[in-house]
Amino acid sequence: MKKVRVRGFEMAYEEEGRGQAVMLLHGFPFNHALWREQVQALSDHYRVITPDMRGFGESALSTEEPATMREMAEDVAALLDELGINRVTLGGLSMGGYVAFAFYKQFPLRVRSLILADTRHTADTAEAKENRERQAQQALAEGMKGIVDSMLPKLLAPASFTERKDVVEELRAMMLSTPPEGAAAALRGMALRTDQTYLLPLILAPTLIIVGSEDQITPLSDAEVMHREIRGSRLEVIEGAGHVSNMERPAEFNQALRTFLDSLQP
Ligand code: MLT
Repeated sequence: MKKVRVRGFEMAYEEEGRGQAVMLLHGFPFNHALWREQVQALSDHYRVITPDMRGFGESALSTEEPATMREMAEDVAALLDELGINRVTLGGLSMGGYVAFAFYKQFPLRVRSLILADTRHTADTAEAKENRERQAQQALAEGMKGIVDSMLPKLLAPASFTERKDVVEELRAMMLSTPPEGAAAALRGMALRTDQTYLLPLILAPTLIIVGSEDQITPLSDAEVMHREIRGSRLEVIEGAGHVSNMERPAEFNQALRTFLDSLQP
């Protein structure tokens, strides 16, 4: 992986292809490899950049403070600066989508278009916040196994557990390889994120919303609210996919991405 020093830490990223820049932000607790199929599908026409967020994959964790969505958004801006990219199509899955909202809030003029995949605009409930703190402490004390055991059954559509065993194993390995300190910082950061409902009608960038029809973590009902509130947005429902719709049904996901991106070409 390529590495660059930004904001006091080493940030790792992959970069493929040439053309308009598309940056894809992974969810929790994954890394850039989540986007392998999308990099393959897009890099013949686009410059696709997939970073490891701070504390994930090969990116260092700069501090033990909560990794807030705002901090991560500033990391993304610093990486774009390093790469000489002013405007970008920014996509994020789940936690990556939370970061994309934070980025849009701070740097709206740098966003050419937005892709919000299996994510939501709302903040955590009090119960979800408590659960995040429990998971953070568990990760720090015992490693990632507890998070994997509780999260994995909810990540995919039921059919994917039998039809896409390769994806189940890939996700499990990716989650287990996540440094517990990075996971804990992100859990605490996600718990601090605020409700973005007010932002939705202010989003002027062309926006694609994608969701698996069987996403249990960020369900279709959230995607429908975002679609209603973000003017001119497009909603693509990936039938038979769960929360990790890009890996469960890559052909359908990539088709939705490609159609959206190509429609924006000058
Ligand atoms: C993710 O996939 O990034 C997480 O499920 C997000 C979350 O826990 O809210």
